[in-house]
Amino acid sequence: NDTSVASIATRSIITKLQDSDRDVVVFYGSQTGTAEDYASRLAKEGHSRFGLKTMVADIEEYDLEDLDTLPEDKVAIFVMATYGEGEPTDNAVSFYEFITGEDPTFSEMEDPEQPLKNLKYVAFGLGNNTYEHYNEVIERLNDALLKLGAKRIGEVGMGDDGTGTMEEDFLSWKEEMWAEFAKHVGIQEREAVYEPAFKVEDKDELTIDDASVYLGEFNKAHLQGTESAPFLPHNPYVAPITSCRELFKSDSRNCLHVEIDLQDSNLKFTTGDHIAVWPQNSDKEVDRFLSVLGLTAKRNDVIHVTPLDPTTKVPFPNPTTYDTVVRYHLEICGVVSRQFLASLAAFAPSDEAKTAITKLGNEKDHFSEVVTSRYLNIAQVLERISSGETWSSVPFSLIIESINHIQPRYYSISSSSYVDKTKPHITVVVESIPTTAEADPLQGVASNYLLDLKYKQEGIKNPRPSAVSYATDGPRGRYAGNKIPVHIRHSNFKLPSNPATPIIMVGPGTGVAPFRGFVIERAAQAAAGVPVGTSVLFFGSRNRTEDFLYSEEWDALGEKLGDKFKLVTAFSRQGPEKVYVQHRLVENAELVNKLLQEGAYFYVCGDASRMAKDVSASLAKIISQQRGIAEEQGEEIVKSMRAQNLYQEDVWS
Ligand code: 2AM
Repeated sequence: NDTSVASIATRSIITKLQDSDRDVVVFYGSQTGTAEDYASRLAKEGHSRFGLKTMVADIEEYDLEDLDTLPEDKVAIFVMATYGEGEPTDNAVSFYEFITGEDPTFSEMEDPEQPLKNLKYVAFGLGNNTYEHYNEVIERLNDALLKLGAKRIGEVGMGDDGTGTMEEDFLSWKEEMWAEFAKHVGIQEREAVYEPAFKVEDKDELTIDDASVYLGEFNKAHLQGTESAPFLPHNPYVAPITSCRELFKSDSRNCLHVEIDLQDSNLKFTTGDHIAVWPQNSDKEVDRFLSVLGLTAKRNDVIHVTPLDPTTKVPFPNPTTYDTVVRYHLEICGVVSRQFLASLAAFAPSDEAKTAITKLGNEKDHFSEVVTSRYLNIAQVLERISSGETWSSVPFSLIIESINHIQPRYYSISSSSYVDKTKPHITVVVESIPTTAEADPLQGVASNYLLDLKYKQEGIKNPRPSAVSYATDGPRGRYAGNKIPVHIRHSNFKLPSNPATPIIMVGPGTGVAPFRGFVIERAAQAAAGVPVGTSVLFFGSRNRTEDFLYSEEWDALGEKLGDKFKLVTAFSRQGPEKVYVQHRLVENAELVNKLLQEGAYFYVCGDASRMAKDVSASLAKIISQQRGIAEEQGEEIVKSMRAQNLYQEDVWS
């Protein structure tokens, strides 16, 4: 039967499609889950609207050397994200290198000129236009496939995260794509019917005291005392927090310095890497979500979720509870999808609610005004629409299928592995962004979790009103203590291998994090008698007294480095004019240019959308003015510095 077929692991997509009787495979190259979500939405839609037999596939799980033998009646859809300097996501690296490499060799090579001439494909890319290599992965994949003889259906779609139009880009692209697809394959659209992907059964005989019930242990083995390396994204290490202190002096904002103990984990990092923190949702948001779906009374019922489709997997262990799934597995505070709202209309609690949600689902501008501009999360939207009635007819399967899995949050390590290999530090600004007067502030999931851990550790009973609480004791109270699940993500953001090479660092706000690590490392090297090059740090914040990060440390570090260290500050809300790091760069143009001519590395860390762009443009100007060359030439020089890794960014938006 179907389930036994699914359990045979094959790395051939051809075998998989045949065994599971599918016509369309949607491959995803995903880092933070968005591409994966789009892939599964395409697969579901292909089935519900056109009756296609579809499946979703993590591109890493297949060897695609046999793509040339894909039968002509099958179609492959690629949904691929581009990262950083035009890189594919981790799970897509080997396929991408294979397909874009010179003359990839396929299994049969019947037509060596056009080995993929039987392949029909669809392509959608996810990128960020604030980066230089916008959607490069999907473009290069598309070029490679065409060159190998494959035939594309529809246009190459591209979503832009930089302008925040990703979802709308996707929605408008896919309508045209489906029209083309239907023409190509000769199929008709049918009335869409919802078919759940999962069966959700209540397990009356089990209670949550039963040890077999999964309650969100990020690492079950940890609770049993049997956890073991390697610690990876699917097996995070539950790390003790050895210290957590406040860095701001402010009544309204928090920034945490957190020290994490990896001693017993074998996890390795080097200066400039990232720590991934696995968060959970706050009590308040879990309560809101369960309540609007009418699940509050059932929250601790034991449920068993099984796939109804042999090609899908249940994304969490079972049996479990509604509370656990919502708290630890669903990104319930993430961006709301307009398409998801439309799919909820069929389950609205009243005619008014149905009309309202249909309007939100269908009208882009209305959606943007009501939902996007207010940063509402899904439960807040549903609460507003139904004014008190619960959405208890919404199948829980639809929730699991439609809401992204919770993703780890990445923090740049703010300490040096040269000084301490086992206890990395991170610098976490606690996100609590006021939205409109009527809505709650937008609160960072992981940063508020860390803040709550700190409050609980210190026994603070009445934190500030915006603080939210979390189930920090963990399932069954067994995490008790001050721990967070983590893994390491290695980065290319590295000090020059020669410590004598000068460096220029630009890091306003928490962008200073990796540079604290860099400066600590160089100070320790200097103290050990290693000759170190000049290190200039440009730091910016609102003012000297409130949010000047690590202000008490720079002098001591500077003493060790002597005239090899210079700190330049830009306080934006201290005087009558806004002063930013790029203004200070310009004021120090001569020094900056001199160091670059001596081979300095240039680093930028922090906000991608405005700061990093402004800094890059300012640097081009500085170079052109100082060297008496045209501005375009200055830009070319910055470009070539990037290509040679002399200009490195660790930025986020
Ligand atoms: P502001 O919030 O007062 O505008 C850290 O967030 C610092 O970066 C703050 O001082 C902030 O200033 C500043 N900042 C905001 N936009 C910036 C930009 N485009 N370039 C550089 N710094 C910026």
